[in-house]
Amino acid sequence: MNNPTEILKQLMQSAAGQISTAATVADLEKIRVAVLGRKGELTVISKTLGTLAPEDRAEAGQLLNKAKATLEQSIDERKQALQSSESSQLLKAEWMDLTVPPSGISPGHIHPVTQVQDEIEQLFISMGFRVLDGPEVETEYYNFDALNIPPDHPARDMQDTFWLTDGHLLRTHTSPVQVRALQKFGAPIRMIAPGRVFRNEEVDASHEHTFYQVEGMMVDRDVSVGHLLHFMQTLLSSVFGRKVTVRLRPGYFPFVEPGFELDINCLICGGNGCAVCKQSGWVELLPCGLVHPNVLTNSGLDPQEWNGFAFGLGLTRLAMMRYAVDDIRLMQSGDLRFLNQF
Ligand code: DAH
Repeated sequence: MNNPTEILKQLMQSAAGQISTAATVADLEKIRVAVLGRKGELTVISKTLGTLAPEDRAEAGQLLNKAKATLEQSIDERKQALQSSESSQLLKAEWMDLTVPPSGISPGHIHPVTQVQDEIEQLFISMGFRVLDGPEVETEYYNFDALNIPPDHPARDMQDTFWLTDGHLLRTHTSPVQVRALQKFGAPIRMIAPGRVFRNEEVDASHEHTFYQVEGMMVDRDVSVGHLLHFMQTLLSSVFGRKVTVRLRPGYFPFVEPGFELDINCLICGGNGCAVCKQSGWVELLPCGLVHPNVLTNSGLDPQEWNGFAFGLGLTRLAMMRYAVDDIRLMQSGDLRFLNQF
């Protein structure tokens, strides 16, 4: 069996088997060196060609070259197959989804007060109201004078208002936006103005120096208390998702005549009395009234032709009622143990 042609055949068979079962590119390289390398089996065989009879030598040489080419080709093919499966395995093993949110970091969410504000905005927009903004740093004129608040009115008390050194103040309510809106857009108008207001108050469970209101106003011809009640009831049943018990008391606000206090049954204690309702069972939620003729005049409108209603909703208090929060200080606390609940 020392016939080179026979040996070559055997070598081809065993090499083909090894190549097809090689598991990695590195294994394949070992096979290549063992068979085709400078000291490889094929090379060894080629050196034995000299022992053949001259007439057989040419044929054997051709056979050898063919074998070499065949082996090179099948090694190449196997190499490509292994490479592509190796890289696809690598891809699989190292695959990661870059869109998965990181674990252990909780994304932020909308503050409860802002959630209620968004709902109220959507509701009033659906009823033809525009949503307006006003400055938090106001002039004495818009915060007081234009709203028919005389200089000796308790609302001007130094205790209640944060005055700035330049004579401006931090608005104590969102009502100044009424006059700004009428001056800018004229009548008829339906608007709400949600925003932050400031009072120089002693802070306790139901009082904060900084809180949120939503001002609302509709000015047109022949607006009545009936319109006011309709919109207020729509507002409250939408926010609470059910009919809440309300009561209307006369109330005095210089910029409305007549003025009302709209109270709702305390939803925290169900009317039994708690810290939020000061043990009364009722929460003052919605002061309102018909726009005072002086406010219309100050806004450049003729009170003979135009009238309207206005309201000033305590947004922070409303959110407290809605979510049964019994301490207003939590709302501004920035405490994640509190905020994560909403
Ligand atoms: N601005 C008043 C306050 O903060 C609330 C208010 C009362 C607003 C009656 C109104 C209104 O629009 O008609 O105490």
